[in-house]
Amino acid sequence: MSDAPLIQPSAAEGDGVYAEGREGHGHIKSFVRRAGRMSEAQGRYFSEMMPKIGLVYANAPVDLNAFFGRDNPKVLEIGTGMGETTAKIADANRDIDYLGCEVHVPGVGALCKQIAERELSNLRICQHDAVEVVRDMLPEGSLDGIHVFFPDPWHKARHNKRRLIQPPFVALLASRLKVGGYLHCATDWEEYAHQMLEVLSAEPTLGNTAETFAPRPDYRPLTKFENRGIRLGHGVWDVIFRKK
Ligand SMILES: C[S@@+](CC[C@H](N)C(=O)[O-])C[C@H]1O[C@@H](n2cnc3c(N)ncnc32)[C@H](O)[C@@H]1O
Repeated sequence: MSDAPLIQPSAAEGDGVYAEGREGHGHIKSFVRRAGRMSEAQGRYFSEMMPKIGLVYANAPVDLNAFFGRDNPKVLEIGTGMGETTAKIADANRDIDYLGCEVHVPGVGALCKQIAERELSNLRICQHDAVEVVRDMLPEGSLDGIHVFFPDPWHKARHNKRRLIQPPFVALLASRLKVGGYLHCATDWEEYAHQMLEVLSAEPTLGNTAETFAPRPDYRPLTKFENRGIRLGHGVWDVIFRKK
């Protein structure tokens, strides 16, 4: 990989807008670290499970087949949140190995609880910035799929640079896919949906699976939040491209 920044270079000195996103490594973060309280159960599951199922960030490539202990398809999910969707998908597709990346510790604790309760051996977590995990740990052509569901939309124009789906990062994601592997983004923010469509369409190594937006595939379950949005007449857009 080149040393080019993955999202955007940090804002110029003196522009305080992105100051909280600067944590070294030269790129603007797509998240802000929230303190967030862990429930007692989330804390307990986090401490018990992460040593067993966690992928610890290191600036070195990881052998995903060795990590999961088998040579099955591998799907990365970026930003698992509280993990409901992630756990449901892994539960319904036990022949596929899922690696979830999430920085928010209570969310990771909640997902650990789901993994334990559902006895999922095909779902593991890296509690680290997904941009760095993809850049530093995941080998080229190692993934069968990538999920980016409801990434933070960063509504304000001056924060748009924090959005994950931007050309350099999409090029990096595409390089990690096997030929035929898919990149699936979903959002309920219309303007971001159009950005996703535009950026993925402009990536020469990806091809759209639909004319424009894709129908929601059965493997992506409707979230409670999405059900509520649909009742209120709000939209959700899926964008699914495949590696050529
Ligand atoms: C709006 S939430 C959506 C969560 C989940 N995908 C869902 O559909 O409910 C976005 C999540 O992405 C996480 N996130 C944002 N940027 C990230 C990054 N670079 N690496 C890992 N997680 C990230 C945030 O902490 C947050 O939990």
